[in-house]
Amino acid sequence: MKTTQQLFDLTGRTALITGASGFLGSAMAAALAEAGARVIAASRKLDTARKVAASLPGKGHTGIALDHMDERTIERAMKKIGAVDVLVNNGHEAEGADWRTITGEKFTRQLANATGYFLLARAVRDAAVAAKTNASVIMLGSMYGQVGSYPDAYEGICAASPAAYHALKGGVLHLTRHLAVYWARDGVRVNCLSPGPFPGPKVSPKLVQRLKKKSPMNRMGLPHELKGVVVFLASDASSYVTGHNLVVDGGWTAW
Ligand SMILES: NC(=O)c1ccc[n+]([C@@H]2O[C@H](COP(=O)([O-])OP(=O)(O)OC[C@H]3O[C@@H](n4cnc5c(N)ncnc54)[C@H](OP(=O)(O)O)[C@@H]3O)[C@@H](O)[C@H]2O)c1
Repeated sequence: MKTTQQLFDLTGRTALITGASGFLGSAMAAALAEAGARVIAASRKLDTARKVAASLPGKGHTGIALDHMDERTIERAMKKIGAVDVLVNNGHEAEGADWRTITGEKFTRQLANATGYFLLARAVRDAAVAAKTNASVIMLGSMYGQVGSYPDAYEGICAASPAAYHALKGGVLHLTRHLAVYWARDGVRVNCLSPGPFPGPKVSPKLVQRLKKKSPMNRMGLPHELKGVVVFLASDASSYVTGHNLVVDGGWTAW
């Protein structure tokens, strides 16, 4: 039987992560590298991707250009990469307009993030099947894929949490379940990792104060608090876990 350390060890594994330069993506890319994986850091800009890869601990990491809103770049990147053991679908093209102001075109564009997650996940599944290897796909969901937001938290500070984002992340969660069922027999696991509030440095401190009051732990999440869970889902430690939604939200969705 493997030891706990062996189960979490990603030595010899390759992990592709989109949005690797981002607030949460950079912490998760570091986690995968620290656990021993060779990380392929994806960004829409090749030089950014390469910089992220060079900043990671360990050797053999590379950067790749990938815009999940553009199917051709997914195909191009996957042709270069080949089979990977882990995909973290983390990149996100944001759209700030809320239900009052969003146009139909922008709403549809926001939903296209799910199309990108699907196309990349399918390409990873197909490459794994062709190479006769297993793979773990991790989709970034959100607490807002499960619950509505509090109107009073946003009022007078900024737009409400965008309706299109709720539609998107709810869709990503259910896409996870659907693909997990279809791909289980291929040896491809698909799980959703749903963070709660992890405000980046640009978020208004006034909003952060209000959001804290909505959290049972009375605080916001910190990027390193996703490191353990991403390694868990990526590794053999979760070999019997698929179609799951792993919520890391300080209890936000528990009350
Ligand atoms: N922060 C939170 O509180 C929170 C809560 C729940 C869920 N999440 C989810 O967690 C993920 C990461 O969020 P974050 O807060 O770290 O956001 P972030 O700092 O804005 O990072 C997102 C990254 O996505 C990349 N990106 C943008 N458009 C893309 C595209 N079309 N194709 C591929 N990559 C693209 C960008 O990297 P490049 O510019 O280098 O391409 C960007 O660095 C997202 O899926 C988000 O919805 C975040």
